[in-house]
Amino acid sequence: MSDMDIELIKAQIDSDIEKINSAKDLEEFRVKYLGRKGILAQLTSSIPTLPQEERGSFGQEVNTLKNKILSLIDEQQKSINTKTPEAKGISCDISLPGISQELGHLHPLTQIIDEISAIFKRMGFSVVEGPEIETEYNNFTGLNIPLEHPSRDVFDTFYLKLPTTNDQRLLRSHTSPVQIRVMKSRKPPLAVVVPGRVYRPDAVDASHSFMFHQIEGFMVDREIKFSDLKGVLEIFAKGVFGKDIKMRFRPHFFPFTEPSAEVDISCIICKGKGCSVCGRKGWLEILGSGMIHPNVFKHVGYNPGLYTGFAFGMGIERIAMLKYGINDIRLFFENDLRFLKQF
Ligand code: DAH
Repeated sequence: MSDMDIELIKAQIDSDIEKINSAKDLEEFRVKYLGRKGILAQLTSSIPTLPQEERGSFGQEVNTLKNKILSLIDEQQKSINTKTPEAKGISCDISLPGISQELGHLHPLTQIIDEISAIFKRMGFSVVEGPEIETEYNNFTGLNIPLEHPSRDVFDTFYLKLPTTNDQRLLRSHTSPVQIRVMKSRKPPLAVVVPGRVYRPDAVDASHSFMFHQIEGFMVDREIKFSDLKGVLEIFAKGVFGKDIKMRFRPHFFPFTEPSAEVDISCIICKGKGCSVCGRKGWLEILGSGMIHPNVFKHVGYNPGLYTGFAFGMGIERIAMLKYGINDIRLFFENDLRFLKQF
């Protein structure tokens, strides 16, 4: 290698730089001159073969050349950056539609909670929420479910000890404890609905989940009667399932109501004739209800001789499954867009 070579290389650089049109060309140029086995590396490695007195000045020339190449690359990089995608060698069809941001929507359970709440709001009910971590008292004792009573099993749940206290706390197994909270903090007249999550230690299958949603409702005043309960629930059921459905009240037992009833609607599939959805009965159970038990009033400090009231509670997933013909409760919680997008 000699000065002559350097002149040749400079000429080569000038012609190569002319041909650079894209980032790819520029990278090839950089590798050709500055790469590990590039022309400058070769020049540098030839230095020890030169006569002693030439090495210094040759080395300097190589260095100057390197700096020149670096600044040329820099310049080219800037001009490529300001070029259009085509000029950069990237093919781009600007007539293609853009990538649009998809808008989400409310979860089907939230939609049905809103729909049911709206029906009750039109009848003068207010919407209240309560905590998912409850006291043992509000979930059981206050609702007339004494410690040793077998009906505790039905509402069994998950128990926890809070780190800050020794109190036994639990995940509420129904929304009914909010009755206790509201009645203790307010005076009648009351008309309240309570949507929210509840928990039970059930094995998960197509119709059970350890977490699901309920809506509780209750009304307390002087002279609230069973017929008020019937009227309110009829407006609710017709609002959700259509005005042609029929309702029936079946006697049942709940510790917190007396008398108690389970409420059925005529099967929305077979209209009462009997099919596989209603188990050939023609009726579908949708909720539990009754007149608030005098013991519940005593627990919250109301005079049962003065006030009466009704209460009801329903599973929201069940209502949504019946309304939309959904056959597996797990679909609500799996976040599968193929399911969610249908609502
Ligand atoms: N808490 C009951 C349950 O989880 C539902 C229920 C039944 C609520 C009757 C009520 C009621 O307020 O009066 O199964």
